[in-house]
Amino acid sequence: MAIIIDGKATAQIIRDEIAEKVLELRKNGHKIPHLAAVLVGNDGASQTYVNGKVNDCRQVGFESTLKKFDAGISEAELLKVVEELNEDPEIDGYIVQLPLPEHISTQKVTEKINPEKDVDGFHPVNVGRMVKNLPAFISATPFGIMQLLQRYKIETEGKHCVVIGRSDIVGTPMAILMSRKTYPGNCTVTVCHSRTKNIGEISKEADIVIAALGKAGFLRGDMVKEGAVVIDVGITRVQDASKKSGYALKGDVNFEEVEPKAGYITPVPGGVGPMTRAALLLNTLLAAQKKSY
Ligand code: GUN
Repeated sequence: MAIIIDGKATAQIIRDEIAEKVLELRKNGHKIPHLAAVLVGNDGASQTYVNGKVNDCRQVGFESTLKKFDAGISEAELLKVVEELNEDPEIDGYIVQLPLPEHISTQKVTEKINPEKDVDGFHPVNVGRMVKNLPAFISATPFGIMQLLQRYKIETEGKHCVVIGRSDIVGTPMAILMSRKTYPGNCTVTVCHSRTKNIGEISKEADIVIAALGKAGFLRGDMVKEGAVVIDVGITRVQDASKKSGYALKGDVNFEEVEPKAGYITPVPGGVGPMTRAALLLNTLLAAQKKSY
């Protein structure tokens, strides 16, 4: 039986800590952190995510601004919005919700964001600073996972960490963070991906497995060793008529098989997901306090 890493409860603790900080800032007459979110188009999932982020701001007492644009906005117009946010002294940090419509270059928009306001941590300057172990905004999901490992006091030094997945925003930064000379970190890291042969043979050697490949139920019981720490980043929507929404969220880990063997495990939902949102709030607080540069 594994210890369940409760991301929902940990995220609430973080929000409470931040709310307390905001009260202190207010009491001392300091500026209240202000997050802006840019949403382009009508994608349902993106709207839900952005609304969640704005609600989180409200909950902790941050100021928030939501800038919504029609899917037909031109790239030049969107770049102008980004420039305005860069120059607006009221805004401490902001995000441009992805994906963007196809006629807009995500790369161009990301690179236009002032790295000091890039609370998503997607700008190449922030990625580079993270690699060099300089203060940087770390993207929300990896930052949230690092918070979970730290707050559950999970030993990482000298451990073998297997990251499954090599995406820009989760797998790759996770592998870098876990190999850095820090806590959490100091691991020997192996990255597995779609071209890796015998992933199960490799993951079975891991003390810590981070599954971030986006395939529901991929990690089976025979692919982990007894006592392993298992972090499930997957959130795949699968049809489920018994749910009001018509779908259920499934992780990359087959929970029923892996949980009895694992030492620690994050559930889906209620594990990494809520921590991603809490990490964005932490980054916004850091941006307001100019602590990441
Ligand atoms: N789309 C899905 N996840 C994210 C995120 O963390 N940040 C942004 N900007 N867009 C996303």
